[in-house]
Amino acid sequence: MIELKNIVKIFNAATVNETQLFKNFSLSVKKGEFLSVVGSNGSGKTTLLNIISGSLPINGGEVLLEGENITKLPEYVRARRIGRVFQDPSVGTVPNMTITENLSLALNKGKPYMLKFAINRRKKYQLKELVLQLGLGLEDKMDVPVGLLSGGQRQALSLIMSTLTPVDLLLLDEHTAALDPRTAETIMKLTDEIVRKKGLTVIMVTHNLRYAVEYGSRLIMMDKGNIVIDKSGEDKTNTSVEDVLRVFNEISIECGN
Ligand SMILES: Nc1ncnc2c1ncn2[C@@H]1O[C@H](COP(=O)(O)OP(=O)(O)OP(=O)(O)O)[C@@H](O)[C@H]1O
Ligand SMILES: [Mg+2]
Repeated sequence: MIELKNIVKIFNAATVNETQLFKNFSLSVKKGEFLSVVGSNGSGKTTLLNIISGSLPINGGEVLLEGENITKLPEYVRARRIGRVFQDPSVGTVPNMTITENLSLALNKGKPYMLKFAINRRKKYQLKELVLQLGLGLEDKMDVPVGLLSGGQRQALSLIMSTLTPVDLLLLDEHTAALDPRTAETIMKLTDEIVRKKGLTVIMVTHNLRYAVEYGSRLIMMDKGNIVIDKSGEDKTNTSVEDVLRVFNEISIECGN
C-alpha cells in the first residue's frame, strides 16, 4: 500500500516563476491494486510518480509505503522497494551491456558493487528461461548488447528488470507511448501478465484511455494537480472510453482549449 498524505508541491518557490501544482493532495493505493492515471499534459502525473519515487522533493505532506514513512528516504533507497519503467526505452537498461548483464544487475539490485554482476550458471539458465517466456525471440540474444535491440524489446526487458526482485510498488510512466501500436499492445499485455502473476501494486500513467479502461482495477483522471475522476470495482467496469473522454473534453473546454 502506498499513501500520499496532504502533499504540497511548489516549483521554483520564492521566484517569479513560482507555481504550486499540489495544494493538499492525498491518494492511497491499496496492496494489489492496479491504478491507471490519465489526464492532460501538465496535469501532474509524472510529478506524482517523481514524488513517490523520491526523485523530487516536496514542500509538505507525507509519503508512506506499507505504513512506513519514507518521505525522507532518498531515491536510491526507495528504489529497492519501488520499480519504475519510463517512457523512453533507453532509460531502463544499460546499452553497452548484454541482456544477461543487465538482468544480473537488476537481480543484484542493492548489493555491493563487487557483487553486482555475480551470477552462476544456474541463475544464467533461469534468466534465459525468463526471457524465453517473453516470446520475443530474445533468448538467442542473451550475449548481445541491449543497445542493439528494438525499443519494444528494451521495454520488455525494462519491465522484467524492474520486477525481478520483489517490489512493493511498480511505477509505469507512459511506458508504451514510444512504441508502435502492435508492440505497445504486446508490452501492455505483458505488463498485465506480470502484474497478475506477481500480484503487484501498480500505478500506470497513460494517455491511452483504452488501456486505462481495459486494464487495471482502478482509474483516476488528474487535472491541474487534482483528482477529478476516481473509479474502481463495478463503477470502473461500467465505465467506457467515451465516458472518460467526455470528462476530458469538458475539462479542456473549461480551460478554453
Ligand atoms: N522541474 C519542474 N520545474 C518547474 N515546473 C515543473 C517541473 N516539473 C513539472 N513542472 C510543472 O508541473 C506541472 C505538471 O507537470 P508533469 O510533468 O507532472 O505533468 P504530466 O501530467 O506528467 O504531463 P505529460 O502528460 O505532458 O507528461 C506542469 O505545469 C509543469 O510545467
Ligand atoms: Mg508526464
